[in-house]
Amino acid sequence: MNVRNFIPRLFAILSLAVLLLGGMPAAERLTGIAAGAHAQQAPADAGKSDVWRAIRQGEQGYVSIPDKKAGVLIQSEGENWRAFRNGPLSTWGVWGMVGMLGLLALFFVVRGRIRIEHGKSGRLIERFNGLERFSHWLTAVSFIALGLTGLNILYGRYVLLPVIGPEAFSAISLAGKYVHNYISFAFMLGIVLILVLWIKDNIPSKLDLTWFAQGGGIFSKHKHPPAKKFNAGQKIIFWAVVLGGISVSLSGLALMFPFEFAFFGKTFAALNVFGFGLPENLTMMQEMQLSQLWHAIVALVLLVLIIAHIYIGTVGMEGAFDAMGSGMVDENWAKEHHSLWVDEVKEEERKARGAARGAPAPGDD
Ligand code: HEM
Repeated sequence: MNVRNFIPRLFAILSLAVLLLGGMPAAERLTGIAAGAHAQQAPADAGKSDVWRAIRQGEQGYVSIPDKKAGVLIQSEGENWRAFRNGPLSTWGVWGMVGMLGLLALFFVVRGRIRIEHGKSGRLIERFNGLERFSHWLTAVSFIALGLTGLNILYGRYVLLPVIGPEAFSAISLAGKYVHNYISFAFMLGIVLILVLWIKDNIPSKLDLTWFAQGGGIFSKHKHPPAKKFNAGQKIIFWAVVLGGISVSLSGLALMFPFEFAFFGKTFAALNVFGFGLPENLTMMQEMQLSQLWHAIVALVLLVLIIAHIYIGTVGMEGAFDAMGSGMVDENWAKEHHSLWVDEVKEEERKARGAARGAPAPGDD
């Protein structure tokens, strides 16, 4: 009998056998047969199944080609990563942003715009100099560009793709990816600049507790808790932007340069100094998956916070935008929101005037 005839015949005989096996459902019989067959072969297959288990668990074997990563045949954690990224992470991100927009809308309806209680005085006082404003807008503009292009990477295929079609979406996403990669360096520079310029004004102090105890004065039209250059709420924004910005930058660099820089391996090694016992020798795939999740979580938290920051810096509070626009704010605004800072500025001006009066006139020796 040749092979061509044998295979259809074998199928016919097997089908007949299945039909003849009464009592149990055919599927059960078949699995029973399969299990029996497997049990009989077990001793011979034991080694094979160990190998298969190791492959499924992502164990790295030996390969003779230079790319040793090719020794990992199946990276099972990839499934978990994908499920978390496309599931809870994406869902929580939307809830966070929509929730914050909803809260701000509610706050606006209930409280309205925070006005300068005593009206504008017409006298201006310098709040931020040119370098400070440059650093702020460098960070802000690059963050917004990174935020929009990053959101497209996470949600674009659900939001943009069905509306603009695959060609336009792929062109936009490709351009967005370049923007995301290159603009990240401007953001990193901005973070370094604001850290250096403003760290001295953002050290937590006892005064912050008073500010918190009074709810920052935002729920009352007549309460203005005292604050220096930055109040406790602004200090939270500052530290979130600086620490979150550093963290998002490092995890982003790990994604951009996976061969050169392992963010999690290095972070875990640093934490292990305190006895955490975290795994330091992650594969490159594990590194990238963890970095991607961390990068997205931190970025989404920052986005939610920054939505609130943009609200308060624009529609939420009268006179606030000028601080970062022209750099000059109305004295009454400054007295209501940063009374101790105004005292400091006035004191410095008084000292400078005194020094100028006492200074030798030009030409004196
Ligand atoms: C259109 C967008 C934005 C507007 C209108 C805006 C407005 C402002 C204003 C008016 C201030 C000064 C507040 C004061 O005088 O006390 C400020 C401060 C600041 N901004 Fe922005 N900003 C924007 C986006 C951003 C972004 C995207 C970031 C960072 C990712 C950022 C980070 C900061 C930080 C760290 C401060 C100092 C701390 C604080 O005042 O909260 N800003 N911003």
